[in-house]
Amino acid sequence: MCGIVGYVGAEQAAPILLDGLARLEYRGYDSAGIAVVSPEHVLQVKKSKGRLQVLRDLVEGGKPIEGHLGIGHTRWATHGEPNDVNSHPHVSQNGRVAVVHNGIIENYLEIKEFLQAQGVHFRSETDTEVVAQLLEYYFNDCSDILDAMYRLLDRIEGAYALGVICTDEPDRFIAARKDAPLLLGYGEGCSFIASDVTALIAHTRDVAYLDDGEVAIVTKDGITVTDALRQPVEKERHFIDWDVSAAEKGGYPHFMLKEIFEQPEALRKTIFPRVHAGRIAFEELKFSPDALRRVRRIYIVACGSSYHVGMIGKYNLERLLRIPVETVLASEFRYCDPLVDETTLVLVISQSGETLDTMAALREAKARGAYIISIVNVVGSSIARESDDVLYTWAGPEIAVATTKAYSTQLALLNLLGLYFADELGTVTQTEYDAIVEQLLTVPGKMETILADTEPLQCLAAHYFNHDSVFFIGRNLDYALGLEGSLKLKEISYIHSEAYASGELKHGTISLIVPGTLVVALGLYGPLFDKAMSNVIEVQARGADILALTTERHAAEMRKVTEHVLVVPDTHALLQPSLGVVPLQLFAYYVALQRGCDIDKPRNLAKSVTVE
Ligand code: F6R
Repeated sequence: MCGIVGYVGAEQAAPILLDGLARLEYRGYDSAGIAVVSPEHVLQVKKSKGRLQVLRDLVEGGKPIEGHLGIGHTRWATHGEPNDVNSHPHVSQNGRVAVVHNGIIENYLEIKEFLQAQGVHFRSETDTEVVAQLLEYYFNDCSDILDAMYRLLDRIEGAYALGVICTDEPDRFIAARKDAPLLLGYGEGCSFIASDVTALIAHTRDVAYLDDGEVAIVTKDGITVTDALRQPVEKERHFIDWDVSAAEKGGYPHFMLKEIFEQPEALRKTIFPRVHAGRIAFEELKFSPDALRRVRRIYIVACGSSYHVGMIGKYNLERLLRIPVETVLASEFRYCDPLVDETTLVLVISQSGETLDTMAALREAKARGAYIISIVNVVGSSIARESDDVLYTWAGPEIAVATTKAYSTQLALLNLLGLYFADELGTVTQTEYDAIVEQLLTVPGKMETILADTEPLQCLAAHYFNHDSVFFIGRNLDYALGLEGSLKLKEISYIHSEAYASGELKHGTISLIVPGTLVVALGLYGPLFDKAMSNVIEVQARGADILALTTERHAAEMRKVTEHVLVVPDTHALLQPSLGVVPLQLFAYYVALQRGCDIDKPRNLAKSVTVE
């Protein structure tokens, strides 16, 4: 949700800012802007509605904008429509202060009214402009931008990552954060801020994570950080070993396709280091077997696709552990007075580690005494840092807005964790444990066989892309998987799509099945295959166009009732969604391609949702 970047150093700032924004564009892409301080200490601000390319064209790649210090922003609008005026950076009335912001200033109206009463004139409809105006107001009073910043932070409420430049301070800029991600980058004779590492790795791999309440003063010679009480803070530095190419398309037409194809490797990196001679070991886990034995209830909280992983987790963990497991949308969890105490284990799932609703749910659970284990992709993210334990999915940077490899690695890790816990609790037999571990290790290879032949999916996408409504049906794990297949399709192709538990159709929704309705019928879950068949026949009788998905073992049977059948290799029933998801991702991708959609950047969406 909005990406911010800042640079100070010997190079020209504008091209560096534009390149950084290009890597952050997945976070928001309805407008973009940069502000650079010229050698004569004049603020140069360029911004425009639309994709970053519009801005790039406007500023001719940034070369004509001279200056060695600047900030940039790519926006996902919350307050005020996407237009040139509402784009960031926002500049104060007298042009001394420019601000980029990710988050929401909740009390902006009250501050705006206060400033207007002081004669300040506002140009935009945004909450961010109050930051620029209030800073200048305080700066006029104290002539010290750092002091003005602290006064501002005392006054504003909400979530923010802020980058601030002041023409009176041409050699340094200021950054601050609360509940929104912000990284500091330490280069050779240059320094950076950015919303995430992808914007930095072309320049430096030496980073630190700014914490809530901290303020950073960024100069080309280094970065000093002070806490909310203005005391100096020694930041722990981290080395980022991601390859630059990991954040590039590498010959693929879209990041989404690249990331779908990266799944086998990402799974190997996530699973293999945690299995030794057939035994699962989580060396990074502090949660003790004794603590596990005290657990009476497990909650899984997450949003979107991560929540769908949690839905599969509910079925699998409950079955393996014989402990009640409830998967709750993070945005609901915090308001439902959840039954959480010291005997509750909360599993938090998040690719970005920054999703605000998930973060809020985590804090709610923690405050009520639960132990928090998070499954996170972005190292050092807020959720990772606030959890009692963090297990990383080693998927590497995921750039496409629609998640694929993060989903798959989250799922593998959750299954691995469930099995590990079951073994500790003695709720799984040795035979079943061995069988699942063995199958888990073969998932990446089997996935490669699915990816080796995408032609049937391309043909089916060409056949179905004109449908305007789709139902995904299935039972048990197939239902949970259908939720993800449906979300993938709708978010990137804009086709209306719903996932239903097959048995529930007859309680109302089947009235929507008319001749020609596309139904994606999932018959992957072996124990309920016969029921899946009955449901296929049931919707077929109402004229539905069926696209079935099953395993090699059941393919022939499925083909007896319907023509279009996608087939994946068999694996252990609990792991079958890990293979089933791949054709669903590819189907969504190729349908969106046929429809000419902007696959990596679907309308109205952003990769990291740091607002409520
Ligand atoms: C869908 C998708 C989203 C995310 C959701 C949670 O393809 O990517 O639904 O899964 O916004 O994001 P994280 O996992 O970063 O908390």
